[in-house]
Amino acid sequence: MSESTTFTFAGQTVNRLGFGAMRITGEGIWGPPKDPDECRAVLRRAVELGVNLIDTADSYGPYISEELIREALHPYGDVKIATKAGFLRIGPDAWRECGRPDYLRQECEMSLRRLGQESIDLFQLHRIDPSVAAEDQFGLLRDLLDEGKVRAVGLSEVSVEQIVAARKVVTISTVQNLYNLTNRQSEAALEYCQREGIGFIPWYPVAAGSLARSGGPLDALAHKNNITVGQLSLAWLLRRSPVMMPIPGTSKVAHVEENCAAADITLNDETFDAIDALHD
Ligand SMILES: NC(=O)c1ccc[n+]([C@@H]2O[C@H](COP(=O)([O-])OP(=O)(O)OC[C@H]3O[C@@H](n4cnc5c(N)ncnc54)[C@H](OP(=O)(O)O)[C@@H]3O)[C@@H](O)[C@H]2O)c1
Repeated sequence: MSESTTFTFAGQTVNRLGFGAMRITGEGIWGPPKDPDECRAVLRRAVELGVNLIDTADSYGPYISEELIREALHPYGDVKIATKAGFLRIGPDAWRECGRPDYLRQECEMSLRRLGQESIDLFQLHRIDPSVAAEDQFGLLRDLLDEGKVRAVGLSEVSVEQIVAARKVVTISTVQNLYNLTNRQSEAALEYCQREGIGFIPWYPVAAGSLARSGGPLDALAHKNNITVGQLSLAWLLRRSPVMMPIPGTSKVAHVEENCAAADITLNDETFDAIDALHD
């Protein structure tokens, strides 16, 4: 397989290990984080360490994550910001789909304003709203692409059938689904994306920290490779597919440094197969 450290979508090339900016908000992904200065430092450090794909959403905070990204990183240079729309926030940990085209358009406009951009690098539909015709949601994404409001379009938490249906209406550059070495429910979507050259962005890549903690079956393998368990989890994802773009999230500089170092680790066949065998 290709060992390329980069992936290109819609003419934009990014390093495959990105950063997820959901955790730079308050408890329940609601309101500001406890330490906004540290969160801005995390964003800057990620970029210093080579990250140039940052994943966010209007609904993270809401708005807080996009605002911190602008404060820390604008002007963005070669850093690509991937945002999303499609969730209403009605309180901490509460998320409700909203895929009405007018609403998605409004959120695109507001993300452009908050991020300080003329065109969004990657605009992802956070969820397909089951109460709105899917073609209408895809059609709005196509309109935004045609109008130049967004440079690329992505989907999130979708099946192969849904990706195929969306592609009849609009070019899909990326798919963002839950995926990590212990949860492979999206294997079919990943395989489809790899075949079709669509970027696959696995969210929950270190299972909210549980795949970054020592004390489990990955310990021995990490120790043998002289790396941490979190780095092992991320290096496994990077090796799993050349279209894979993990976006581990953290609010701590020490953790972003640990996670970014995984970009330079290539697992040998023996370690890769041993991890596979642990979680088959
Ligand atoms: N499309 C979707 O529906 C969807 C859903 C959820 C998330 N996402 C995106 O995916 C990104 C990642 O997902 P996620 O945040 O749920 O999961 P994750 O990246 O697997 O886990 C993040 C959590 O793990 C901890 N962590 C990270 N690195 C660590 C390390 N080296 N050592 C110890 N703990 C570590 C962080 O805590 P500390 O802050 O204490 O480091 C944080 O709470 C999000 O930021 C967001 O951009 C998308």
